Amino acid sequence: MKKGKATNDTKLAIHGGKKAVPQLGPYPTKLGADELLALMDLWEMSPTTHRAVQKLIRGDRKLKGPHLFRYYNPKPSRVALAEKAMAEAIGVQQVLAVNSCTSALVAAMRALGIGAGDEVLVPAYTFFATAATVVASNAIPVIVDVDDSLNMDPKAAEKAITRRTKAIVPVHMRGAPAQMDALLDLAKRKGLPLIEDVAQACGGSFHGKKLGSLGTMGCFSFDYYKIINSGEGGFITTDDEWLYTRAQSWHDTAACWRPNRFGREQREGELFCGENYRMSELQGAVALAQIQKLPRLIEQYRRACAAIRNDIESRPGLSFRRLTDPAGDTGSCLIFFLPDADRTRNVLTALQAEGVPAGGVYDSKVRDWHIFTYWDHILERKSVAADGLPWSAVPAKQLPKYSRDMCPRTLDWLGRSIHIEINPDYSEEDCALIARGINKVLRAYLP
Ligand SMILES: Cc1ncc(COP(=O)(O)O)c(C=O)c1O
Repeated sequence: MKKGKATNDTKLAIHGGKKAVPQLGPYPTKLGADELLALMDLWEMSPTTHRAVQKLIRGDRKLKGPHLFRYYNPKPSRVALAEKAMAEAIGVQQVLAVNSCTSALVAAMRALGIGAGDEVLVPAYTFFATAATVVASNAIPVIVDVDDSLNMDPKAAEKAITRRTKAIVPVHMRGAPAQMDALLDLAKRKGLPLIEDVAQACGGSFHGKKLGSLGTMGCFSFDYYKIINSGEGGFITTDDEWLYTRAQSWHDTAACWRPNRFGREQREGELFCGENYRMSELQGAVALAQIQKLPRLIEQYRRACAAIRNDIESRPGLSFRRLTDPAGDTGSCLIFFLPDADRTRNVLTALQAEGVPAGGVYDSKVRDWHIFTYWDHILERKSVAADGLPWSAVPAKQLPKYSRDMCPRTLDWLGRSIHIEINPDYSEEDCALIARGINKVLRAYLP
């Protein structure tokens, strides 16, 4: 370099010279027309619409895709909007979007400080994830019988509490609220947090309060099978800001995207190593659209469910699932019981032959992840590593005694239950046909 007086070109910017690189970009995000077209391909469209959309999108050379990472999206982030919509729909102060209800359950338990040596009560009838996430949190699931509501029996729950119990996790199975008054009373008397598993009952309520707003925390699933979905996805609801903060930390790899992300912890317990359960903007956009549809969908479910139920003739030996709050049932499933398991199996086969959308639950020959008898991973105390956790954290004698006949009432109720799947799009005529099919079969089997 030539010696001499530094010109504006040579003078370093740190000494007041001109910046060598005044500006870069702006560049498009990493997503553009190809990605949008890939998304459009997911929707079923007529070939004409498809061609028209293709032409429009391909023709737009400046098309700039969105940031699908929630924290980079120019506001408003779809995930943040979905959280806000969920807070309004459920009636809670804090909502955290995650990528599944399984994640939501683990994050909720971690937020509550549940870990090795702790016990958590879960019902014997629920999707396996409710129990598996207790183990994933290094704690021990204690499996509790359900009653004729097919939800956790509060009396059985009380009996299952030990000095190790750290939480109660009732599940609002098949769209209907658990016995929340008795369970909340139990939780209060014992000083225990209550996590509602609302995976199957989004939009339901208990005596006027939305499910997911009654307990300490609520966990929702937005996977494909649920009342509303974003393919995969989940939400945590709570009124407790501190629990929200801790769940946010857990869901976000060592708390790296928390509000003051590079700051030291403001309060002991805010920072710890977590996982990555973040929801993407793709899921957030779909979840938001689905949450906005929720009131209408619930109304349709309830209408169809009531229409079918009202048309079913009463017969000796026929009883309906006990609803802890009929007005709060989502109506996504209509369940009735028959006097014995043999007849239930025959009635189920006959209903299916008639074309009625009926399912049964307990058949010892059919493996079903919703019934504790098939939870080999827990019954046989399996562990992912040689450390034997979570079972090794407690002296063997103090572990719960698991067996395939430990919750006989659950098996009895499930073995005698018939589940009629409700579709929110059933017309009046569909409902009448289904009720007619049910009456035809029940007349033959319950004369
Ligand atoms: C009661 C219950 N809890 C938890 C889950 C787990 O939900 P996800 O698939 O979103 O992890 C499910 C899913 O079927 C469920 O039914």
